[in-house]
Amino acid sequence: MLIADLLPPPVAAWESFQDHPEFVPHPAEAVSLRSSAPGRRREFTNGRYCAHRALQRLGTPAAPIPAGERGAPGWPPSVVGSITHCRGYTAAAVARRGEILALGIDAEPHLPLDADVLEFVAGPEERALVAELLARRPEVRWDRLLFSAKESVYKAWFPATGLFLGFLQARVRFDPSAGTFHADVPAAVRAGARPPGGTRLPTRLTGRWQVSDGVLVTAVAVQAAEADTTPAAAPAASASPEGERE
Ligand SMILES: CC(C)(COP(=O)(O)OP(=O)(O)OC[C@H]1O[C@@H](n2cnc3c(N)ncnc32)[C@H](O)[C@@H]1OP(=O)(O)O)[C@@H](O)C(=O)NCCC(=O)NCCS
Repeated sequence: MLIADLLPPPVAAWESFQDHPEFVPHPAEAVSLRSSAPGRRREFTNGRYCAHRALQRLGTPAAPIPAGERGAPGWPPSVVGSITHCRGYTAAAVARRGEILALGIDAEPHLPLDADVLEFVAGPEERALVAELLARRPEVRWDRLLFSAKESVYKAWFPATGLFLGFLQARVRFDPSAGTFHADVPAAVRAGARPPGGTRLPTRLTGRWQVSDGVLVTAVAVQAAEADTTPAAAPAASASPEGERE
């Protein structure tokens, strides 16, 4: 399984390479589909199908997964998780809150990223790194990988902190031979992340990636032992850096 290989044992995952038109989302889930186009309905349905299979695999009681804050899935309170879909591939990953603090997964077609998108999501250092890796290891689309890594970081970050994280606010670096990446989130961005005085994510989030059958998948899982226990810094005056757009 593509996604499970990237995640630690407490995580239960489910992936699918086909559509699931037979699956009927719970009414509490379907409410967010009211005026959606067929393509969006299909991807949402596929995502919820995988999410319920993953919850089943984790051994938690069946429960609806409505769309939550800012589009994040509304998992049962005891669960953290993430959903991704791209053409021909859907996956969901879940874990018991407490064992895993934050979880984010992302799938993308293994194709070049538009230059203007790269410009938008990567800082100068990251663009230089991508150019160097594309020249040295052209078998991997490092531009697309950078984008996907940031999406996984965001999907782990937002539900855990309640804070938006802009593309230029996290700095990603790869370890090409290990199949891993690191994302550093500056202290100023992390200040004020909820819950106050409670568990906080570490400064550095670590992820893994894999390419198979034209699909590139990234995953970030923050384990309980990685919680940041240092005293919280004062909240930043502004969480949006220069040039950042939502
Ligand atoms: C939300 C976002 C991450 C989705 O990623 P995507 O590659 O477009 O789409 P995917 O199919 O992989 O993922 C979509 C799923 O992400 C999940 N998702 C949506 N918003 C989310 C959020 N705020 N937090 C966590 N997960 C979210 C949902 O489950 C969604 O599927 P669903 O609507 O069917 O339930 C992306 O559109 C986005 O808004 N990014 C901006 C912020 C960002 O990425 N910053 C990078 C910081 S380094």
